[in-house]
Amino acid sequence: MRAPLLAALALVPLCSGCSGRQSALDPGGANAAQIAALFWTFTTTVMVVWLLVMIGLVLALRGRQAEAEAMPQPLSPDPRIEHRATITVNGLVAATALILVALMLASFLTSGSLANLEKEQALDLKLTGHQWWWDVRYADKDPTRTLTTANEIHLPVGRIAKLELASNDVIHSFWVPNIAGKMDLVPGRQNTLFIKPERVGTYRGQCAEFCGLQHAHMALLVVVEPEQQFEAWYAAELGAATEPGTPEAKRGKELFSKAACVMCHQIRGSTAGARLGPDLTHVGRRATIAAGTLPMTAVDLDSWIADPQAVKPGVSMPKVDLTPEDRRSIVAYLGSLK
Ligand code: CUA
Repeated sequence: MRAPLLAALALVPLCSGCSGRQSALDPGGANAAQIAALFWTFTTTVMVVWLLVMIGLVLALRGRQAEAEAMPQPLSPDPRIEHRATITVNGLVAATALILVALMLASFLTSGSLANLEKEQALDLKLTGHQWWWDVRYADKDPTRTLTTANEIHLPVGRIAKLELASNDVIHSFWVPNIAGKMDLVPGRQNTLFIKPERVGTYRGQCAEFCGLQHAHMALLVVVEPEQQFEAWYAAELGAATEPGTPEAKRGKELFSKAACVMCHQIRGSTAGARLGPDLTHVGRRATIAAGTLPMTAVDLDSWIADPQAVKPGVSMPKVDLTPEDRRSIVAYLGSLK
């Protein structure tokens, strides 16, 4: 009786790994819930089949031993035993075929119902993969309500979002396990994924297609919040950047507009209008920098600007020649962009 107990204990750490902000088995969205249900259907079925096979194997081995003792000539077959064996094998083949067909049907039904997510009133988002960050655009019929941000998306709970996925360079893959399954971002084409977040929370997404040196550092934060909170976030994001409030941040703004930073980044409401790198208009409100690589703190922002190649080797952001003092001012400015 010790073996089953040990097996049960071994399952405890396995199952504790099922929850968390980046887990397909802790669903916070309609798509993920269906995929998790399918996963458990498959897992339970194959576990039961495995157990039955093992029990059958043990019984057969025991029977064989008894048979060998009773019958000294194993090569002279008993027609009754032969007949029983044929029936058993045929029955098992039929059961295997039935199980396979049932699992295939379950899989088809899940894919079908995922494709059937109600498509009206969907929030329209365009995600473009870059090596190695996510460009995010919220589209709206009213062009003044079109929003650009990066590496962090906010979604209202319970509302379907239509994600248009594209790539600027190589193939990336959108995967927020708690919310939905994967879909690739392919250069030269547009894939569409409908998702429905159903639980408030902050989830971590990860590029799921190897896309170069910093593939592992291509994360996307998904914040699912109540509609009102989402609307407040959206309204604040739509606004131009806030003017720096301290002399330090003011100096940072001047330095930023004269340095190489403006060659790549946009800060709406300032002279920085380039679109090669992430939009920084409200970078101070985001939880992370460098696509989820570092938390958004003054210290981390400083080390990121001081030497991006040390933090994320191969990244497009160059090391800009700045004195520690200048860097501090720029960090103060970027941190103030709330
Ligand atoms: Cu982008 Cu991996």
